Amino acid sequence: MPCISEKANPLAGIATVPGDKSMSHRALMLGAVALGETRIEGLLEGEDVLRTAEAMRKLGADVEKGDDGVWMVAGRGVGGLREPDDVLDMGNSGTAARLLTGLVASHPFVTLFTGDASLRSRPMRRVTAPLSLMGASFTGRSGGGGLPLAVRGADEPLPIRYESPVASAQVKSAILLAGLNAPGVTRVVEPRPTRDHSETMLRHFGAEVTVEALDGGGRLASVVGQPELEGRDVSVPADISSAAFPMVAALIVPDSDVTLTNIGINPLRTGIIESLRDMGGDIEIFNKGVEAGEAVGDIRVRHSKLRGRVIPADRAPSQIDEYPILSVAAAFAEGETRMPGVGELRVKESDRLGRMAAILRASGVETRETEESLVVEGVAGAPGGGARIETRLDHRIAMSALVLGMGTVEPIAIDDAGPIETSFPGFRHLMNDLGARISDQG
Ligand code: S3P
Repeated sequence: MPCISEKANPLAGIATVPGDKSMSHRALMLGAVALGETRIEGLLEGEDVLRTAEAMRKLGADVEKGDDGVWMVAGRGVGGLREPDDVLDMGNSGTAARLLTGLVASHPFVTLFTGDASLRSRPMRRVTAPLSLMGASFTGRSGGGGLPLAVRGADEPLPIRYESPVASAQVKSAILLAGLNAPGVTRVVEPRPTRDHSETMLRHFGAEVTVEALDGGGRLASVVGQPELEGRDVSVPADISSAAFPMVAALIVPDSDVTLTNIGINPLRTGIIESLRDMGGDIEIFNKGVEAGEAVGDIRVRHSKLRGRVIPADRAPSQIDEYPILSVAAAFAEGETRMPGVGELRVKESDRLGRMAAILRASGVETRETEESLVVEGVAGAPGGGARIETRLDHRIAMSALVLGMGTVEPIAIDDAGPIETSFPGFRHLMNDLGARISDQG
Protein backbone atom coordinates (compact mmCIF):
# COMPACT_ATOMS: atom_id res chain seq x y z
CA MET A 1 0.00 0.00 0.00
CA PRO A 2 1.54 3.37 -1.04
CA CYS A 3 1.65 6.13 1.55
CA ILE A 4 3.06 9.59 2.08
CA SER A 5 4.67 11.38 5.00
CA GLU A 6 4.26 15.17 5.18
CA LYS A 7 6.00 17.64 7.45
CA ALA A 8 5.00 16.54 10.97
CA ASN A 9 3.56 18.64 13.75
CA PRO A 10 5.83 18.73 16.81
CA LEU A 11 5.90 15.16 18.11
CA ALA A 12 4.76 14.89 21.70
CA GLY A 13 3.57 12.22 24.10
CA ILE A 14 4.33 8.85 25.61
CA ALA A 15 4.34 5.71 23.48
CA THR A 16 5.19 2.03 23.76
CA VAL A 17 6.65 0.43 20.66
CA PRO A 18 6.13 -3.33 20.03
CA GLY A 19 8.21 -6.11 21.57
CA ASP A 20 11.81 -6.91 20.73
CA LYS A 21 12.04 -8.97 17.56
CA SER A 22 15.28 -10.77 18.41
CA MET A 23 14.01 -11.81 21.83
CA SER A 24 10.59 -12.81 20.50
CA HIS A 25 12.06 -15.27 17.98
CA ARG A 26 14.33 -16.75 20.62
CA ALA A 27 11.59 -17.10 23.24
CA LEU A 28 9.45 -19.13 20.82
CA MET A 29 12.35 -21.31 19.73
CA LEU A 30 13.63 -22.05 23.22
CA GLY A 31 10.08 -22.59 24.49
CA ALA A 32 9.72 -25.27 21.79
CA VAL A 33 12.79 -27.19 22.94
CA ALA A 34 12.09 -26.83 26.66
CA LEU A 35 9.98 -29.27 28.63
CA GLY A 36 6.72 -27.91 29.96
CA GLU A 37 5.07 -24.58 29.42
CA THR A 38 6.63 -21.27 28.45
CA ARG A 39 4.57 -18.09 28.82
CA ILE A 40 5.68 -15.12 26.76
CA GLU A 41 4.44 -11.65 27.60
CA GLY A 42 5.00 -8.77 25.18
CA LEU A 43 5.78 -11.00 22.18
CA LEU A 44 6.17 -9.00 18.98
CA GLU A 45 3.18 -9.95 16.84
CA GLY A 46 4.88 -8.90 13.62
CA GLU A 47 4.97 -11.10 10.54
CA ASP A 48 8.57 -12.22 11.08
CA VAL A 49 7.83 -13.58 14.54
CA LEU A 50 4.50 -15.10 13.50
CA ARG A 51 6.46 -17.07 10.89
CA THR A 52 8.63 -18.45 13.67
CA ALA A 53 5.52 -19.34 15.72
CA GLU A 54 4.12 -21.24 12.74
CA ALA A 55 7.44 -22.99 12.12
CA MET A 56 7.62 -24.12 15.76
CA ARG A 57 4.11 -25.61 15.39
CA LYS A 58 5.21 -27.48 12.26
CA LEU A 59 8.21 -28.77 14.25
CA GLY A 60 5.85 -30.22 16.84
CA ALA A 61 5.43 -27.60 19.59
CA ASP A 62 2.08 -26.21 20.68
CA VAL A 63 2.08 -22.46 20.28
CA GLU A 64 -0.98 -20.39 21.12
CA LYS A 65 -1.97 -16.91 22.12
CA GLY A 66 -4.12 -16.80 25.25
CA ASP A 67 -7.13 -14.50 25.76
CA ASP A 68 -4.96 -12.34 28.03
CA GLY A 69 -2.52 -11.69 25.18
CA VAL A 70 0.14 -13.93 26.70
CA TRP A 71 1.62 -16.51 24.31
CA MET A 72 2.03 -20.11 25.49
CA VAL A 73 4.46 -22.64 24.12
CA ALA A 74 4.29 -26.29 25.16
CA GLY A 75 7.74 -27.59 24.27
CA ARG A 76 9.12 -30.99 23.27
CA GLY A 77 12.44 -30.99 25.10
CA VAL A 78 15.97 -30.72 23.68
CA GLY A 79 16.28 -32.98 20.64
CA GLY A 80 12.53 -33.56 20.60
CA LEU A 81 11.47 -31.61 17.52
CA ARG A 82 9.77 -33.65 14.78
CA GLU A 83 10.12 -33.56 11.03
CA PRO A 84 7.84 -30.87 9.59
CA ASP A 85 5.35 -32.19 7.03
CA ASP A 86 5.58 -29.08 4.89
CA VAL A 87 8.04 -26.41 3.79
CA LEU A 88 8.84 -23.78 6.44
CA ASP A 89 8.23 -20.41 4.81
CA MET A 90 10.16 -17.85 6.84
CA GLY A 91 8.76 -14.89 4.89
CA ASN A 92 11.10 -11.89 5.21
CA SER A 93 12.96 -13.03 8.32
CA GLY A 94 16.70 -13.70 8.18
CA THR A 95 16.78 -14.29 11.94
CA ALA A 96 14.08 -16.96 11.73
CA ALA A 97 15.68 -18.68 8.74
CA ARG A 98 19.21 -18.71 10.15
CA LEU A 99 18.44 -19.57 13.77
CA LEU A 100 16.01 -22.32 12.80
CA THR A 101 18.51 -23.77 10.33
CA GLY A 102 20.78 -24.13 13.35
CA LEU A 103 18.11 -25.62 15.58
CA VAL A 104 17.10 -28.34 13.08
CA ALA A 105 20.71 -29.04 12.00
CA SER A 106 21.13 -31.29 15.04
CA HIS A 107 17.83 -33.16 14.57
CA PRO A 108 17.94 -36.31 12.41
CA PHE A 109 15.34 -35.32 9.83
CA VAL A 110 14.83 -33.16 6.76
CA THR A 111 13.57 -29.58 6.90
CA LEU A 112 12.83 -27.44 3.87
CA PHE A 113 13.08 -23.66 4.15
CA THR A 114 11.97 -20.90 1.84
CA GLY A 115 11.14 -17.22 2.11
CA ASP A 116 10.16 -14.11 0.16
CA ALA A 117 12.23 -12.62 -2.66
CA SER A 118 14.31 -10.59 -0.19
CA LEU A 119 15.13 -13.54 2.07
CA ARG A 120 15.85 -15.80 -0.91
CA SER A 121 18.57 -13.38 -1.97
CA ARG A 122 20.35 -13.37 1.39
CA PRO A 123 23.48 -15.41 2.19
CA MET A 124 22.99 -18.64 4.12
CA ARG A 125 26.49 -20.07 3.76
CA ARG A 126 27.58 -18.17 6.85
CA VAL A 127 25.45 -20.65 8.83
CA THR A 128 25.54 -23.73 6.60
CA ALA A 129 29.38 -23.78 6.62
CA PRO A 130 29.72 -24.23 10.40
CA LEU A 131 26.61 -26.42 10.65
CA SER A 132 28.12 -28.78 8.04
CA LEU A 133 31.06 -29.26 10.40
CA MET A 134 28.54 -30.44 13.01
CA GLY A 135 27.33 -33.13 10.61
CA ALA A 136 24.32 -31.53 8.90
CA SER A 137 24.09 -31.45 5.12
CA PHE A 138 22.46 -28.90 2.85
CA THR A 139 21.08 -28.71 -0.64
CA GLY A 140 19.91 -25.38 -1.89
CA ARG A 141 20.17 -22.61 -4.39
CA SER A 142 23.62 -21.26 -5.10
CA GLY A 143 25.22 -24.54 -4.04
CA GLY A 144 23.52 -24.53 -0.66
CA GLY A 145 24.23 -20.86 -0.09
CA GLY A 146 20.67 -19.60 -0.34
CA LEU A 147 16.98 -20.34 0.11
CA PRO A 148 15.09 -22.49 -0.86
CA LEU A 149 17.25 -24.75 1.25
CA ALA A 150 16.91 -28.38 2.35
CA VAL A 151 18.55 -29.30 5.64
CA ARG A 152 19.36 -32.88 6.50
CA GLY A 153 20.04 -32.72 10.23
CA ALA A 154 22.93 -34.71 11.73
CA ASP A 155 22.13 -38.16 13.16
CA GLU A 156 24.96 -37.74 15.63
CA PRO A 157 25.72 -34.03 15.88
CA LEU A 158 29.28 -33.09 16.75
CA PRO A 159 30.11 -30.23 19.08
CA ILE A 160 32.50 -27.81 17.36
CA ARG A 161 34.63 -24.78 18.06
CA TYR A 162 33.99 -22.29 15.32
CA GLU A 163 35.68 -18.98 14.62
CA SER A 164 33.15 -16.88 12.78
CA PRO A 165 34.60 -14.52 10.18
CA VAL A 166 31.58 -12.19 10.57
CA ALA A 167 30.36 -10.43 13.69
CA SER A 168 26.84 -11.84 13.48
CA ALA A 169 24.47 -12.75 16.29
CA GLN A 170 22.55 -14.89 13.83
CA VAL A 171 25.60 -17.01 13.03
CA LYS A 172 26.55 -17.31 16.70
CA SER A 173 22.99 -18.19 17.67
CA ALA A 174 22.52 -20.77 14.91
CA ILE A 175 25.61 -22.63 16.15
CA LEU A 176 24.65 -22.41 19.84
CA LEU A 177 21.14 -23.66 19.06
CA ALA A 178 22.55 -26.58 17.06
CA GLY A 179 24.93 -27.25 19.95
CA LEU A 180 21.98 -27.73 22.30
CA ASN A 181 21.46 -31.21 20.89
CA ALA A 182 25.13 -32.16 20.50
CA PRO A 183 26.99 -34.01 23.27
CA GLY A 184 29.79 -31.96 24.86
CA VAL A 185 30.55 -28.27 24.56
CA THR A 186 29.90 -26.21 21.43
CA ARG A 187 31.96 -23.04 21.14
CA VAL A 188 31.71 -19.99 18.90
CA VAL A 189 34.24 -17.20 18.65
CA GLU A 190 32.94 -13.91 17.29
CA PRO A 191 35.37 -11.25 16.08
CA ARG A 192 33.44 -8.49 17.93
CA PRO A 193 30.69 -8.80 20.53
CA THR A 194 27.18 -9.00 19.05
CA ARG A 195 23.79 -9.03 20.75
CA ASP A 196 23.77 -11.73 23.41
CA HIS A 197 20.04 -12.44 23.74
CA SER A 198 20.58 -16.11 22.88
CA GLU A 199 23.14 -16.55 25.64
CA THR A 200 20.96 -14.77 28.22
CA MET A 201 17.80 -16.59 27.26
CA LEU A 202 19.50 -19.98 27.08
CA ARG A 203 20.61 -19.45 30.67
CA HIS A 204 17.11 -18.33 31.61
CA PHE A 205 15.78 -21.68 30.34
CA GLY A 206 18.43 -23.62 32.30
CA ALA A 207 21.31 -24.16 29.86
CA GLU A 208 24.93 -23.79 30.93
CA VAL A 209 26.36 -20.98 28.84
CA THR A 210 29.64 -19.18 29.39
CA VAL A 211 31.01 -16.11 27.68
CA GLU A 212 34.64 -15.08 27.70
CA ALA A 213 36.20 -11.85 26.44
CA LEU A 214 39.22 -12.56 24.21
CA ASP A 215 42.34 -10.50 23.50
CA GLY A 216 41.75 -8.36 20.47
CA GLY A 217 38.12 -7.58 21.27
CA GLY A 218 36.42 -10.87 20.31
CA ARG A 219 34.29 -13.12 22.47
CA LEU A 220 33.94 -16.85 23.00
CA ALA A 221 30.47 -18.20 23.78
CA SER A 222 30.09 -21.84 24.87
CA VAL A 223 27.05 -23.99 25.53
CA VAL A 224 27.03 -27.38 27.24
CA GLY A 225 25.00 -29.72 25.03
CA GLN A 226 21.96 -31.82 25.86
CA PRO A 227 20.72 -29.90 28.89
CA GLU A 228 17.23 -30.32 30.25
CA LEU A 229 15.61 -27.01 29.43
CA GLU A 230 12.51 -26.11 31.39
CA GLY A 231 9.62 -23.93 30.26
CA ARG A 232 9.87 -20.43 31.70
CA ASP A 233 8.06 -17.10 31.85
CA VAL A 234 9.57 -14.56 29.49
CA SER A 235 8.76 -10.88 29.46
CA VAL A 236 9.83 -9.24 26.21
CA PRO A 237 10.71 -5.54 26.44
CA ALA A 238 9.98 -3.05 23.67
CA ASP A 239 12.39 -3.16 20.73
CA ILE A 240 15.09 -0.48 20.71
CA SER A 241 15.44 -1.03 16.96
CA SER A 242 11.78 0.03 16.57
CA ALA A 243 12.11 2.82 19.16
CA ALA A 244 14.90 4.29 17.03
CA PHE A 245 12.31 5.56 14.50
CA PRO A 246 10.28 7.77 16.88
CA MET A 247 13.57 8.73 18.58
CA VAL A 248 15.08 10.14 15.40
CA ALA A 249 11.72 11.64 14.41
CA ALA A 250 11.65 13.56 17.71
CA LEU A 251 15.24 14.74 17.20
CA ILE A 252 14.60 16.17 13.73
CA VAL A 253 11.09 17.64 14.10
CA PRO A 254 11.29 21.05 15.84
CA ASP A 255 9.71 21.35 19.32
CA SER A 256 9.28 17.58 19.77
CA ASP A 257 9.37 15.84 23.16
CA VAL A 258 8.63 12.11 23.15
CA THR A 259 8.95 9.42 25.81
CA LEU A 260 9.17 5.73 24.89
CA THR A 261 8.55 3.21 27.65
CA ASN A 262 10.06 -0.11 28.69
CA ILE A 263 12.73 -0.28 25.99
CA GLY A 264 15.29 -3.09 26.01
CA ILE A 265 18.62 -1.32 26.62
CA ASN A 266 21.01 -4.26 26.54
CA PRO A 267 24.41 -2.55 26.05
CA LEU A 268 25.00 -4.64 22.93
CA ARG A 269 21.97 -2.94 21.35
CA THR A 270 22.35 0.69 22.41
CA GLY A 271 24.91 1.91 19.87
CA ILE A 272 22.22 4.12 18.37
CA ILE A 273 21.82 6.04 21.62
CA GLU A 274 25.58 6.63 21.83
CA SER A 275 25.73 7.75 18.20
CA LEU A 276 22.77 10.11 18.45
CA ARG A 277 24.12 11.57 21.70
CA ASP A 278 27.54 12.06 20.04
CA MET A 279 25.70 14.02 17.36
CA GLY A 280 24.16 16.27 20.01
CA GLY A 281 20.86 14.45 20.57
CA ASP A 282 19.06 15.18 23.84
CA ILE A 283 18.27 11.64 25.02
CA GLU A 284 17.58 10.74 28.61
CA ILE A 285 17.18 7.21 30.01
CA PHE A 286 15.29 6.73 33.27
CA ASN A 287 13.20 4.15 35.18
CA LYS A 288 15.96 1.61 34.60
CA GLY A 289 15.33 -2.00 35.60
CA VAL A 290 16.02 -5.62 34.63
CA GLU A 291 13.57 -8.14 33.15
CA ALA A 292 14.47 -11.77 32.42
CA GLY A 293 18.14 -10.82 32.69
CA GLU A 294 17.79 -7.96 30.19
CA ALA A 295 18.17 -4.24 31.01
CA VAL A 296 15.12 -2.04 30.33
CA GLY A 297 14.37 1.67 30.70
CA ASP A 298 12.24 4.57 29.50
CA ILE A 299 13.74 6.96 26.97
CA ARG A 300 12.90 10.64 26.58
CA VAL A 301 13.99 12.39 23.40
CA ARG A 302 13.73 16.10 22.59
CA HIS A 303 14.32 17.98 19.37
CA SER A 304 18.02 18.79 19.08
CA LYS A 305 20.44 20.57 16.84
CA LEU A 306 22.54 17.72 15.42
CA ARG A 307 26.18 17.78 14.31
CA GLY A 308 27.85 15.40 11.87
CA ARG A 309 30.23 12.89 13.43
CA VAL A 310 32.45 9.92 12.60
CA ILE A 311 30.57 6.85 13.82
CA PRO A 312 33.19 4.33 15.00
CA ALA A 313 33.21 1.09 13.01
CA ASP A 314 33.52 -1.00 16.18
CA ARG A 315 30.11 0.28 17.24
CA ALA A 316 28.46 -1.28 14.18
CA PRO A 317 27.30 -4.56 15.77
CA SER A 318 25.45 -2.72 18.54
CA GLN A 319 23.45 -0.64 16.07
CA ILE A 320 23.56 -2.73 12.92
CA ASP A 321 19.84 -2.33 12.18
CA GLU A 322 19.83 1.38 12.97
CA TYR A 323 22.08 2.70 10.18
CA PRO A 324 19.18 3.57 7.85
CA ILE A 325 17.53 5.76 10.48
CA LEU A 326 20.91 7.07 11.70
CA SER A 327 21.62 8.25 8.16
CA VAL A 328 18.29 10.12 8.26
CA ALA A 329 19.43 11.91 11.43
CA ALA A 330 22.74 12.66 9.67
CA ALA A 331 20.87 14.34 6.80
CA PHE A 332 19.51 16.98 9.21
CA ALA A 333 22.83 17.52 11.02
CA GLU A 334 25.36 20.23 10.43
CA GLY A 335 28.38 18.79 8.61
CA GLU A 336 29.44 15.39 7.48
CA THR A 337 28.61 12.07 9.16
CA ARG A 338 30.92 9.20 8.27
CA MET A 339 29.83 5.63 8.81
CA PRO A 340 32.75 3.26 8.12
CA GLY A 341 32.82 -0.54 8.48
CA VAL A 342 29.23 -1.20 7.48
CA GLY A 343 29.57 -3.58 4.53
CA GLU A 344 27.15 -5.96 6.30
CA LEU A 345 24.36 -3.51 5.46
CA ARG A 346 24.56 -4.68 1.88
CA VAL A 347 23.17 -8.14 2.80
CA LYS A 348 20.24 -7.10 5.00
CA GLU A 349 16.59 -7.18 3.87
CA SER A 350 17.85 -4.96 1.03
CA ASP A 351 21.21 -3.36 0.24
CA ARG A 352 20.64 -0.75 2.95
CA LEU A 353 23.86 1.11 2.28
CA GLY A 354 23.04 1.62 -1.39
CA ARG A 355 19.36 2.27 -0.70
CA MET A 356 19.94 4.97 1.92
CA ALA A 357 22.55 6.69 -0.26
CA ALA A 358 20.04 6.78 -3.12
CA ILE A 359 17.07 7.86 -0.98
CA LEU A 360 18.95 10.73 0.61
CA ARG A 361 20.34 11.85 -2.77
CA ALA A 362 16.82 11.84 -4.22
CA SER A 363 15.81 14.06 -1.28
CA GLY A 364 18.50 16.68 -1.85
CA VAL A 365 21.22 15.35 0.48
CA GLU A 366 24.71 14.59 -0.80
CA THR A 367 26.04 11.13 -0.02
CA ARG A 368 29.12 9.12 -0.88
CA GLU A 369 29.42 5.37 -0.63
CA THR A 370 32.11 2.74 -0.88
CA GLU A 371 31.58 -1.03 -0.60
CA GLU A 372 31.94 -0.69 3.19
CA SER A 373 31.02 2.87 4.13
CA LEU A 374 28.51 5.67 3.81
CA VAL A 375 29.10 9.40 4.16
CA VAL A 376 26.16 11.81 4.51
CA GLU A 377 26.59 15.59 4.05
CA GLY A 378 24.11 17.03 6.49
CA VAL A 379 22.17 20.13 5.40
CA ALA A 380 21.92 21.68 8.90
CA GLY A 381 18.15 21.96 8.71
CA ALA A 382 15.42 20.53 6.51
CA PRO A 383 16.45 18.71 3.31
CA GLY A 384 14.32 19.28 0.22
CA GLY A 385 12.56 15.90 0.12
CA GLY A 386 9.92 15.41 -2.55
CA ALA A 387 11.03 11.86 -3.44
CA ARG A 388 9.06 8.67 -4.05
CA ILE A 389 10.87 5.68 -2.57
CA GLU A 390 10.69 1.99 -3.48
CA THR A 391 10.78 0.02 -0.25
CA ARG A 392 11.78 -3.31 -1.88
CA LEU A 393 10.49 -5.55 0.91
CA ASP A 394 12.58 -3.73 3.54
CA HIS A 395 10.68 -2.58 6.63
CA ARG A 396 13.47 -0.37 7.94
CA ILE A 397 13.90 1.40 4.60
CA ALA A 398 10.14 2.05 4.56
CA MET A 399 10.11 3.50 8.10
CA SER A 400 13.31 5.51 7.56
CA ALA A 401 11.81 7.11 4.44
CA LEU A 402 8.62 8.04 6.30
CA VAL A 403 10.59 9.56 9.19
CA LEU A 404 12.67 11.52 6.65
CA GLY A 405 9.44 12.97 5.25
CA MET A 406 8.43 14.21 8.72
CA GLY A 407 11.20 16.80 8.53
CA THR A 408 11.82 17.52 4.82
CA VAL A 409 10.39 20.58 3.04
CA GLU A 410 8.44 18.47 0.54
CA PRO A 411 6.79 15.15 1.53
CA ILE A 412 8.32 11.71 1.01
CA ALA A 413 6.16 8.97 -0.51
CA ILE A 414 6.79 5.22 -0.41
CA ASP A 415 5.40 2.66 -2.84
CA ASP A 416 4.57 0.03 -0.21
CA ALA A 417 4.12 0.31 3.56
CA GLY A 418 3.33 -3.43 3.79
CA PRO A 419 6.86 -4.53 4.86
CA ILE A 420 6.55 -2.46 8.06
CA GLU A 421 4.28 -5.21 9.42
CA THR A 422 7.28 -7.54 9.72
CA SER A 423 8.69 -5.68 12.72
CA PHE A 424 6.52 -2.72 13.74
CA PRO A 425 2.80 -3.36 13.42
CA GLY A 426 0.94 -0.13 14.23
CA PHE A 427 3.87 2.12 13.18
CA ARG A 428 1.74 4.59 11.28
CA HIS A 429 -0.89 4.85 13.99
CA LEU A 430 1.68 5.30 16.76
CA MET A 431 3.59 7.96 14.82
CA ASN A 432 0.43 9.85 13.82
CA ASP A 433 -0.74 9.81 17.45
CA LEU A 434 2.52 11.56 18.36
CA GLY A 435 2.02 14.22 15.66
CA ALA A 436 3.21 12.72 12.37
CA ARG A 437 1.19 13.12 9.19
CA ILE A 438 1.38 9.82 7.35
CA SER A 439 -1.54 9.04 5.06
CA ASP A 440 -2.58 6.75 2.21
CA GLN A 441 -1.54 7.85 -1.19
CA GLY A 442 -4.28 6.95 -3.68
C1 S3P B 1 19.69 -10.33 14.68
C2 S3P B 1 20.99 -10.13 14.31
C3 S3P B 1 21.41 -9.12 13.31
C4 S3P B 1 20.30 -8.14 13.00
C5 S3P B 1 18.97 -8.81 12.84
C6 S3P B 1 18.59 -9.54 14.10
C7 S3P B 1 19.37 -11.37 15.67
O1 S3P B 1 21.77 -9.79 12.12
O2 S3P B 1 20.62 -7.41 11.82
O3 S3P B 1 17.96 -7.88 12.51
O4 S3P B 1 18.23 -11.39 16.19
O5 S3P B 1 20.25 -12.18 15.96
P1 S3P B 1 23.26 -10.32 11.85
O6 S3P B 1 23.52 -11.45 12.78
O7 S3P B 1 23.25 -10.78 10.41
O8 S3P B 1 24.17 -9.16 12.06
